[in-house]
Amino acid sequence: MSTHPTETDSYPRADVTPPSGSLFPHKHLLGTWNLDPVSIKHILDTAEEYVEQNRRAQKSTPKCAGLTQINLFFENSTRTLMSFEIAGKRLGMDTISMSTGTSSIKKGETLLDTAATLNAMHPDVLVMRHADSGAVKLLSEKMDCAVINAGDGRAEHPTQALLDALTIRRRKGALHGQTVVISGDVAHSRVARSNIYLLSAMGARVRLVAPPTLLPKDVDRLGVEVATRMDEGLKGADVVMMLRLQQERMQGAFLPSLREYFRFWGLTAEKLAYAKDDVLVMHPGPMNRGVEIASDVADDIDRSAIEEQVEMGVAVRMACLDILTRNLRGEAA
Ligand code: NCD
Repeated sequence: MSTHPTETDSYPRADVTPPSGSLFPHKHLLGTWNLDPVSIKHILDTAEEYVEQNRRAQKSTPKCAGLTQINLFFENSTRTLMSFEIAGKRLGMDTISMSTGTSSIKKGETLLDTAATLNAMHPDVLVMRHADSGAVKLLSEKMDCAVINAGDGRAEHPTQALLDALTIRRRKGALHGQTVVISGDVAHSRVARSNIYLLSAMGARVRLVAPPTLLPKDVDRLGVEVATRMDEGLKGADVVMMLRLQQERMQGAFLPSLREYFRFWGLTAEKLAYAKDDVLVMHPGPMNRGVEIASDVADDIDRSAIEEQVEMGVAVRMACLDILTRNLRGEAA
């Protein structure tokens, strides 16, 4: 059983829930902590159809034509921002992206003023990334439209967990019963949190493997197994998800040196031998090669699913945009 984020990372109340009884009874997608298996499966099944569509030469449909999607990114991003842009365009939406460098936030505008300004432009979906945990939820309360969290601080990154789940389900046939190891800088990782909630809800066994300084303070409340050595931690793993060392979120000394870190915690072929033979290697990107993962492991075409994760990302985001706008388009969610 997973628990809610800690106080600083928390979303104290559940989302608005119209229409009740639908497969996805949420107005926004702010995290995975409040998603039940039915909603998760609904998103993944919908995404499967988009995987097929994205592999065709003709990739766009006018399904969401006339709707406006704003991507508002207050933190750097390559793959997530592009993925959301491509996803919106493939559904025929008018997609506009704004990042901090060009916004009035630099001129001192508060987040709530930004929300009011954007709201007045009548977007239908707002996709937002912000360095502070809880900022996306705060903004969602001021917006009339659906809001998707594209990563807030160290709290949640729901579409990453959904695309990871889709990747695992396609490769392993199911999520239930899989032993998934999440290893590296768990303490600073919103990807880890969203994955913990989602995978636990779907009946996977989650094990965190990290040095004690990189485990979250509330680790006991997360309802997962914990190991602090790679050999014991990787034993019996079906999936190993490596996380980037997020040095931009570290204040003070968490590690001796990057070389030491690689030696003890970096995923090498040698360490991977402790996992199951058919283990799947994943990484949300961007990767620090030679820090948390060795290049030959990242590029191992038999075991690495890292590029596939990127592919699944577009399909999952199309599914989220589609499902969250069904109400507007007069369809059942
Ligand atoms: C992650 C993020 O930004 O949370 N990247 C991503 O979205 N693909 C992980 C990271 O930055 O390490």
